[in-house]
Amino acid sequence: MLTAAENDMLTKVGPGTPMGRVMREHWIPAFMSSELEGPDGSPLRIRLLGENLIAFRSTSGKIGLLANNCPHRGSSLYFGRNEEEGLRCVYHGWKFDVDGRCLDMPAEPPESDFKDKVRAVAYPTRERNGVVWAYMGPRTEPPPLPDLEPNMLDGETYIWTALRECNWLQALEGDIDHAHLAFMHLGSVTPEDVEPGSFDYFTVRDRQPRFRVIDTEAGTAYGAYRPVEDDQYYWRMAQFLFPCYTMIPTGLLGVQVLVQGWVPVDDEHTMFWHISKPVDRDTAERTGSTSLVGSNNILGSNNHPRFLPNTTDWLGRWRLADNFGNDYNVNREIQRNGSFTGIDGINLQDQAITESMGGIADRTKENLGTGDLMIARTRRRMLQACRDMMEGTPPPTVDKPELYRTRTGGVLLPRSVDWWEGTAHLREAFVEHPELAENSDALLFLRGTGFGPSRG
Ligand code: FES
Ligand SMILES: [Fe+2]
Repeated sequence: MLTAAENDMLTKVGPGTPMGRVMREHWIPAFMSSELEGPDGSPLRIRLLGENLIAFRSTSGKIGLLANNCPHRGSSLYFGRNEEEGLRCVYHGWKFDVDGRCLDMPAEPPESDFKDKVRAVAYPTRERNGVVWAYMGPRTEPPPLPDLEPNMLDGETYIWTALRECNWLQALEGDIDHAHLAFMHLGSVTPEDVEPGSFDYFTVRDRQPRFRVIDTEAGTAYGAYRPVEDDQYYWRMAQFLFPCYTMIPTGLLGVQVLVQGWVPVDDEHTMFWHISKPVDRDTAERTGSTSLVGSNNILGSNNHPRFLPNTTDWLGRWRLADNFGNDYNVNREIQRNGSFTGIDGINLQDQAITESMGGIADRTKENLGTGDLMIARTRRRMLQACRDMMEGTPPPTVDKPELYRTRTGGVLLPRSVDWWEGTAHLREAFVEHPELAENSDALLFLRGTGFGPSRG
């Protein structure tokens, strides 16, 4: 349970708020490269951390991200003309380059130097492997981009985003809330339904896992463990990384390469990001890794959600077709006889339930149990980060991009092995583990039934 002031501190991200400052010290995923038209193409409305911004690609291909309101008299640059290395406001023709410099003020006399004194608010951007990153922080020289493996490896990347209509924190907390897996997602699955010895089998055989929770330099981590045969534990490990990332354990530790982001659009809307390296089907099947888009009749057919057509509205990107307005198309018949929720697909179940808590969940009325250890610890860690930020110190993740070089997943370990220290080599990013992908004996116990692309 939090005080109202603490809940505010954790959830509000507008300019000047403590959490808003923590976010702004970091690079933030703003939109997918594919969303923005080519050079001199149409601008794009992007709301990020509660700020309305206009993205455009200049003639030479650079990406500008300007405050929506023109610094002259505030008309929206969305209607601007994207031409010759700049976006020209159509009201009086002022023109701005990607850095916010005013290139032209055609209504002013030629001898005026007014244009050298006016700047549009412009945030630096970087484009890497399909993701456009924005830096909205105070430094003139931005910090390095985070070393997030799935956004750095060559080759095919699996990226998708979805708008969630609630505050970023409750959406993120759904990803580190391990206890709900065995209920909301797997509540009607019995051990007889799944392959003996698979990860799902251990999960539904024992719905009260024990937990270990630790602080890491990048954020927090948990291990949920269940006793299995041969003096082993089945461990599922997940992490929170500042400012808004999760790494969840849908696949095999050492093989799974995945990160999820919970990027605040504003205080009551969040852009969910999934970025992972697709595992080849063969390996995925043998390891129970779940980076493949797939269907699963136990978990629902809709693990990759259906989207409404995008609109140009501030909140018009990546809205789900199954949403609050149609009760997420809950099917009560299936709820009685099939799945725990009657809502189709893991992602949609998470979406429905986190949105159902309200725009900003009221954490002053909660009653946290032992299954909520990770959530409680992560909040404490975030509150401390907010307080440090108010003293001027951002989290270490800002200047240590290497802290993001990590992985998560599920693994069977002898009971004597320390879950965190003993798996350091498996958590290292940019390391291949052919022995895991090839040794089918080692994998005998590691097969899952497939969790869809994004959830655990
Ligand atoms: S309001 Fe943009 S040029 Fe006047
Ligand atoms: Fe979930």
